Amino acid sequence: MKLKYTGNIYLIGFMGSGKSTIGPLLAKRSKRIFFDTDEWIKNEFGKSILQIFTEDGEDSFRQKEIAGINLVSRMSNLIVAVGGGAVINPENWIRIKNTGISVYLKCSPEEIYRRVKNNKTRPLLIENDKDKYETIKSLMKSREQYYEMADFTVESCKDESREVFANRLIKTLRGYI
Ligand code: S3P
Repeated sequence: MKLKYTGNIYLIGFMGSGKSTIGPLLAKRSKRIFFDTDEWIKNEFGKSILQIFTEDGEDSFRQKEIAGINLVSRMSNLIVAVGGGAVINPENWIRIKNTGISVYLKCSPEEIYRRVKNNKTRPLLIENDKDKYETIKSLMKSREQYYEMADFTVESCKDESREVFANRLIKTLRGYI
């Protein structure tokens, strides 16, 4: 894998932690382009994430996710929102670590649950609809060690406006953004 630092900022974290919400604002404020790996997959393969999971299986989705991160790791100065499960794959981490700066958007399972409980687009939560909160807690527990590998950790579920959160992120990323 031949990789060089391209100055990307990778937003990582659990589903519902705010990557796709704060990403576009951060991009606007820093005059960068926003790239969402899930959006790229949807457009590239012409299917929703849910459809890919149900029709082709999770493995197929993870391969597409690797392809998206591979593509983005060759581009420069982007703000990238990375799907919540991408960090468990070492190949993705190698690309993220070598080409940019990673920020873990950290949020409590209680708040994540509040945000996603009525969402019908996330296959991993739909599959476990009855025990959504328990699923969130156990998935988060198993992934935390990977999220913690990020260069920065920022609490993303504070009671504050998007603008205030973006300011905080920009402060944290001073020198990189
Ligand atoms: C997933 C998170 C989703 C999406 C897919 C799988 C996960 O992205 O990639 O449903 O494994 O946590 P978001 O984190 O943007 O919701």
